[in-house]
Amino acid sequence: MISASAPAKLILSGEHAVVYGAPALAAAVSPRAQVRVSELPKPEVVLLLDGIEQRLSILDCLDMQADLDDAHEAFLDGELEIQDVLESGRQLFFYLAAQWLQPDSRQGVKIELDSAIPIGAGLGSSAATIAAVASALAQFYGEPMDASQLIALTRFVERLQHGRGSAIDATTVVQGGVLYLHQDQVETLAPLQGPWWLVHSGQPQCSTGECVSQVRQQFADSSLWQTFSQVTQGLRQALLEHDQAGIISAISANQRLLEQIGVVPAPVQQFIRQLEAKGGAAKVCGAGAIRGDQAGAVLVYGVDPSDLVLAAGYRCTALQGEQDGAHVAAG
Ligand code: MEV
Repeated sequence: MISASAPAKLILSGEHAVVYGAPALAAAVSPRAQVRVSELPKPEVVLLLDGIEQRLSILDCLDMQADLDDAHEAFLDGELEIQDVLESGRQLFFYLAAQWLQPDSRQGVKIELDSAIPIGAGLGSSAATIAAVASALAQFYGEPMDASQLIALTRFVERLQHGRGSAIDATTVVQGGVLYLHQDQVETLAPLQGPWWLVHSGQPQCSTGECVSQVRQQFADSSLWQTFSQVTQGLRQALLEHDQAGIISAISANQRLLEQIGVVPAPVQQFIRQLEAKGGAAKVCGAGAIRGDQAGAVLVYGVDPSDLVLAAGYRCTALQGEQDGAHVAAG
């Protein structure tokens, strides 16, 4: 049996903008997605996730792989919406297993996935679960991957859900730590220090893929992405200098830009204004939401949000960084 895990991720600054070549800052955080992979005597793939076991023969798994590749092509050709490519998030793991399967394989594989990372909440749950399962399967099939191979495979599988997303989620969950990413360059920063919290505003009613598509339709050619870049560079500098006032102003500026591109629901915006009035700063993390009242993860800096969180019916935790990226457990 092979065990592996990968951390959740948070985007500190630069979500959406990163899709248009702007830099981003991201941090690997707890909790981690855990997976166990073991051999089965029959040619089938079994997935155990959230207490539900699902099995597919190897041939059905390979058929699913071909169908999903076709569906993604149809999305790229403008014939299908991104949210219609996958029928369920579970298909991602069968699709992943199919990368190693042969039609005449005699043995099968069981994938037991256990993730406490909230889904669709801006915490990179799909990248983390895919990276954890991919590193376990690569080891299981005797072809261990280095970080760049694992990032590439995680992105390749995630494209079924995110359409034309960036490399930020995959890179952060595979590498761990705090990262400044600009195009192909990755700079590692010191671990997060100080008064950071993570607020869960509830699962958005739309997927990352949908948000990215809508923003693309309305803002692909906007000059706003340059302003996003400046804000992210400002936050990088403030983090390097441990400049609390600089961190607060960069996070607030980033939040205003996210409001401008329409990914912050009104109740979440109101919560953030109340927090700002107390001297802190907060922003939506990840794709946000283009409809409904929830926006997934909200990053808070500077003031303890507990009282406001209670009043808003949200949940919050102090932020815990994860230095380790996706890896196979020793032993
Ligand atoms: C999703 O976590 C962040 C987005 O920028 C999309 C991406 O970078 O792939 C919205």
